[in-house]
Amino acid sequence: MISKLGVNIDHVATLRQQRDEGYPSLVDAADATLRAGANQITIHLREDRRHIQDTDVQAVLLVTRKFGVPLNLEMGCSREIAEIAVASSPEWICLVPEKREEKTTEGGLDLSDANLSKVKETMEYLKENIPGVKISLFVEASEETMKRSLELKADAVEIHTGQYAKAFLEGEDIAEYLEKFKSAYDLVKDSSMLFHAGHGLTLESVVPLLELKIFREYNIGHWIIAQSIFEGIDSVTKKFLDLFSKYPM
Ligand code: PXP
Repeated sequence: MISKLGVNIDHVATLRQQRDEGYPSLVDAADATLRAGANQITIHLREDRRHIQDTDVQAVLLVTRKFGVPLNLEMGCSREIAEIAVASSPEWICLVPEKREEKTTEGGLDLSDANLSKVKETMEYLKENIPGVKISLFVEASEETMKRSLELKADAVEIHTGQYAKAFLEGEDIAEYLEKFKSAYDLVKDSSMLFHAGHGLTLESVVPLLELKIFREYNIGHWIIAQSIFEGIDSVTKKFLDLFSKYPM
């Protein structure tokens, strides 16, 4: 089995939102990366609408449906966004923590007692109102989050790789991160909950994770869109897919 590539195209919308001219087109970006073979499109409808807009969700869905691949909608545990999700019926929803002052998602979901009921209620609302939707939880790799995600019957966990990726870029020791990811995987590998990864990854920093052969899916955005300036989104997408094919699970 080859790991799946979800391409996060939020930053195409970031560029578009800098001006009010309607370009670059999110639909064209989704179309180009899917034509190159990407397995999924990921977008994050933030409460502050800093990049993806409400109308983008339907527009991107038309493209993913044309290709017969899932749309993975990232969202905070907000009722307003959940209602938009219900109206659009994406195949996957990834619940993430969201703070207005952050530049990007900075850590995994809080699954402590204080926040658990909020996550649970959001999951129940989405499951009840979107037939067949699958839900992943964006979490840190820890014993507690794996236990809680299993209790919540999440369809998948997406492990936050942001700090790992930063350590990799800065040439720091990454061994402790890899150990943490493996230990978390060992806790869930016998369940039906899928194990995904995302945040901050590049064509280089994804390699040690591929070597672990534990992640079924990677959601990668910022680096892909940035590198696309130099070589085009189809070329960058294909490079990731070629790389993934060298590490069958
Ligand atoms: N996964 C999640 C849950 C995210 O919030 C993000 C960023 O929106 C990504 C993956 C993609 O991260 P990056 O853009 O750094 O590759």
